Amino acid sequence: QIGHVARDMGFGVFVVGGFVRDLLLRRQNDDIDIVIEGDGITFAKAFAEMMGARINTYTKFGTSVIIFPDGFKVDVATARMEYYPSPAALPEVETSSIKLDLYRRDFTINTLAIRLDPDGFGTLTDFFNGQRDIKEKRIRILHNLSFVEDPTRVFRAIKFEQRFGFTIGKVTREMIKNAIHLDVFRELGGLRVFNEFRQILEEENPIPSILRIFDLGLMEIIHPGITRHNELIDQLDEAKKVLAWHDLMYTDEPIERWIIYFLTLLAPCDREVSEVVARRLMLPPKYRKILTEERFHARGAYTWLTHGLPAANSDLHRQLSPLRTELLLYVMAISKGEAIKKSISHYMSQLRHITLSIRGRDLKTLGLKPGPRYGEILADTLAAKLDGQLKDRDDELAFAAG
Ligand code: CTP
Repeated sequence: QIGHVARDMGFGVFVVGGFVRDLLLRRQNDDIDIVIEGDGITFAKAFAEMMGARINTYTKFGTSVIIFPDGFKVDVATARMEYYPSPAALPEVETSSIKLDLYRRDFTINTLAIRLDPDGFGTLTDFFNGQRDIKEKRIRILHNLSFVEDPTRVFRAIKFEQRFGFTIGKVTREMIKNAIHLDVFRELGGLRVFNEFRQILEEENPIPSILRIFDLGLMEIIHPGITRHNELIDQLDEAKKVLAWHDLMYTDEPIERWIIYFLTLLAPCDREVSEVVARRLMLPPKYRKILTEERFHARGAYTWLTHGLPAANSDLHRQLSPLRTELLLYVMAISKGEAIKKSISHYMSQLRHITLSIRGRDLKTLGLKPGPRYGEILADTLAAKLDGQLKDRDDELAFAAG
């Protein structure tokens, strides 16, 4: 259908990029990117109407997103016809616009396209030897200025290399070194570095990529204070194990996995370095707070745990309840020995679900005068319940009254 709509408008239509790459690699990919040779927005409007889908358009970029009723999205971009003046009296050459569109992309493996219009439906278009590089497991840029034009591609090269078990090609590696040497990252916006870095940390196993980032001297872009100290690899491995444990135990609790790796990397850095990193990466407020404040609460809890075990349930609860899950997992990752891990696991599986059945209004019924005391009474009652002293609601009421 998509092909017929395009043909009726006289446009060429291609599915491009990651989707095609992953098709050849037999990996699942639900992000469909369409490129239209012609007017992408006109096409997207007609196609969306026909399919009963919604559409968002960005006229400035000639792009649209088609959103189907079930939430499925398709991105549509425009490859404009471009004309290249040719020497002397010869006429201008019209270069295939899909080819130019693909030439602007990062790596050859992302330049494959499949034609969807009825005339050549299903034909694989491969201008830059993307298929060969997929076969030979190679990440290769299309031209030598690729990283200068867009330094975030250095992070992408590392991400793809590790994700697919590929190798960055020799020339491409040289160009990465060259880009680092030219200090192209200085001008790069913090948020863009952050997004790329976060994507790497969200990968299935980010540890080899992290090491590659150190090897290439790229961590300094974020901060020279983030170092590959002796315990780092063990701690990152531990973070990975803790995450696997969490996946197994709490399948329905979504967490931001990257935070655990990120904090582990920054574990030895002090508050000042953390502030600089937060500024450099232009961290959104939530993450800034995690890095510069909550992390230190977690540190405090960690220090307490190293001295305070074995502890009463109520003490464990008081120490750990202010920490979000990502921080609990972080503390597990950096802790040595099993005792701390066991205590946190005990808190996560048992203690954090324990709540009181009485409320403020029950205290009122008991004749207690409302005020800040209520908070303290309820906290003390919860502590007693956590420590196994109260069996039921009547016990709670009696304790609160006493
Ligand atoms: N692209 C690029 N340079 C960038 C980012 C993206 O050339 N800095 C191109 C790539 O060719 C890619 C396309 O834009 O195919 C879409 O990028 P993205 O949405 O990141 O998709 P994927 O390549 O599929 O990456 P991922 O699998 O991680 O989503």
